[in-house]
Amino acid sequence: MESMISHCTGSSITAGEATSALAAEIERRLRATAELALPLEEELAILAQLQEFELGRFLLHNQGLNGYWTSYIFRYRPGDPTATPMEHWLLNNSTLRGIRERFHRFKAEIAQYVTDAAVLASVPCGVMDDLLQQNYRATTGVRLVGVDIDTEAVRLARENAVQHGLDGQCEFLLRDAWQLGLASEFDLLVSNGLNIYEPDRARLVELYRTFGRALRPGGRLLVSFPPPPPPPPWLAPERAAEWDKYGIPKADLRRNMALFGDIIQAKYRNFTSEQDMRAQLAEAGLEVEAVSYSATGVMPIVSAVRPD
Ligand SMILES: C[S@@+](CC[C@H](N)C(=O)[O-])C[C@H]1O[C@@H](n2cnc3c(N)ncnc32)[C@H](O)[C@@H]1O
Repeated sequence: MESMISHCTGSSITAGEATSALAAEIERRLRATAELALPLEEELAILAQLQEFELGRFLLHNQGLNGYWTSYIFRYRPGDPTATPMEHWLLNNSTLRGIRERFHRFKAEIAQYVTDAAVLASVPCGVMDDLLQQNYRATTGVRLVGVDIDTEAVRLARENAVQHGLDGQCEFLLRDAWQLGLASEFDLLVSNGLNIYEPDRARLVELYRTFGRALRPGGRLLVSFPPPPPPPPWLAPERAAEWDKYGIPKADLRRNMALFGDIIQAKYRNFTSEQDMRAQLAEAGLEVEAVSYSATGVMPIVSAVRPD
């Protein structure tokens, strides 16, 4: 079974009929929901604001992110212009800020494995900022391989490689991550933003087994994962202190839950504890060497090796 599990449309969606029809359907669903994170009128106002800019429309239609929009979020720097106040809030105050922070930690981890003649892979690559933004000037013979199921992502990754002057050492494969069909090829395989869309544990183990097979013996997998967040503080006040480290003001937390939960119903909320992540990787034949957390605990990164 081959499938694109993160999204279903191209990057650009107009504010036309299809968006109005979808918004009407979401409004009906919100009106019929008993427990919302915010009062109904506030949720409807957010729904209206999301239709006013491209990222908002993409999220409404796809309930997830593709390579282009993931890169848009990663490349945003606080202070850059934004399309609307809601887009400003999303990029600066929502949980999307956490995934941008994870991207920069991920890049720093990858840098340790940029060595002469290394073969580095990104699956799914999206536009492949994780590998293309590394510094290869002091190395020779490095090869980069990007794999993604989306033709638009692969096209944008190729263009990105040209812009970085790295196209000569890149190869791109339009392929399902579960069907890599590669054995003992890579010294490093990095994977971000796919496991979060997969609810089936057995499929996750299968994915990591496929990654393990694609690594050379002794090769390394760097993969991020989302641990389950605490329950909302207004539902479980006794656990409210667990939210402190996330550094999200209570009002922003409610807005996050309204927007990504009630309104968009984001598909990328397949949480995994560190303990289960370790178990899944062990079942896939990989040895976990380290799990690194940020101060906020959002999206830790596992470093695991294929045994020799
Ligand atoms: C959230 S993006 C992450 C992209 C990239 N790893 C990054 O961090 O920028 C998810 C990516 O997964 C890709 N994708 C979704 N389902 C896939 C599948 N079954 N096999 C390979 N790629 C897939 C999408 O096309 C998209 O580029």
